[in-house]
Amino acid sequence: MRHMPTLERLSASDTTISDFGLSVIEGLSRTQKSLPCRYFYDARGSSLFEEITQLPEYYPTRTEIGILQACAAEVVEGFSAGDVLLEFGSGSSIKTEILLDRIADRVVYVPLDVSEAALADAVARLVERYPALEIRPVVADFSKLVTLPKEFSNSRITGFFPGSTIGNLAPKEAVRLLSNFRKVLGQSGRLIIGVDLKKDPRVLIRAYNDAAGVTADFNLNLLLRINRDLGGTFDLEAFRHKALYNPRAGRIEMHLVTDRSQDITVCGRLFHFADGESIHTENSYKYTVPEFRELAEKAGWKTNRVWTDPDNQFSVHELT
Ligand code: SAH
Ligand code: AVI
Repeated sequence: MRHMPTLERLSASDTTISDFGLSVIEGLSRTQKSLPCRYFYDARGSSLFEEITQLPEYYPTRTEIGILQACAAEVVEGFSAGDVLLEFGSGSSIKTEILLDRIADRVVYVPLDVSEAALADAVARLVERYPALEIRPVVADFSKLVTLPKEFSNSRITGFFPGSTIGNLAPKEAVRLLSNFRKVLGQSGRLIIGVDLKKDPRVLIRAYNDAAGVTADFNLNLLLRINRDLGGTFDLEAFRHKALYNPRAGRIEMHLVTDRSQDITVCGRLFHFADGESIHTENSYKYTVPEFRELAEKAGWKTNRVWTDPDNQFSVHELT
């Protein structure tokens, strides 16, 4: 059995409880209460997300896997010995295996995620599957400018950002993030990014409001995490999951809605909820191919190849 690679914690990854607490206090103080969606991913949240990816209603994962299987040979053409594959929000790294099956003998793999639990599980599986692969896992928040270990400063780096995680940011923030990624990946850098496409809102709403209630549990887990880590007093029975499509913004919104007026405490502070009030917990923006290309170009990227599935549900873009 191989040794487990050590998890690197970058200074930019300040995911401490006080950071979490400040974000929650700030979000619950707004007129439209909101919480940052990166806090979904504690150990239980990451595991619930994996369950979501297996749901019949959640088409993005299986569709993107199909696209990656079809375009993998083209994607890996450009890899040479010693190149780095840096994955942002790597989670379970399941999709990455489609690339690693072809290049594990050549590259250093750097999975980067805020979820230490997801990273640890993924790395444990990958060391068994790819005994020769060098893996350098990093716990970090990709929305802060990530600085990679110095030894990679002369390496050619390909970024991989699947899952349409880019859609969880508002377009302006997405441009800022993609522009930061350009700095991290350097002049010779390339980014392979998965983007969910605009489609019939009924299909979208079903994907975020599944019959088995897994997405509801994923959403409500945020309140459980606040209760556990920040001394919160949320009554989970008093909140229900809601997913809606906002056509003007082109995004799915997830909310937690309460049906009764109440006061709750977090970090010793009191927050009032009116009957019917919601906490906006996530946006998931959907783009057309031209819309996303325009966004990437605003961030300074050149748009190259784009691959989609036959039903035009999802897209994978190559940016250089
Ligand atoms: N790439 C995987 C997982 C997508 S889920 C896939 O395509 O299936 C989104 C992942 O991004 C989760 O693992 C979550 O922990 C991670 N994540 C969310 N916000 C993040 C942030 N700000 N910084 C780093 N990782 C983040
Ligand atoms: C990670 N992210 C792209 C998922 C999405 O589809 O927006 C998270 C998710 N939220 C609810 N279901 C899945």
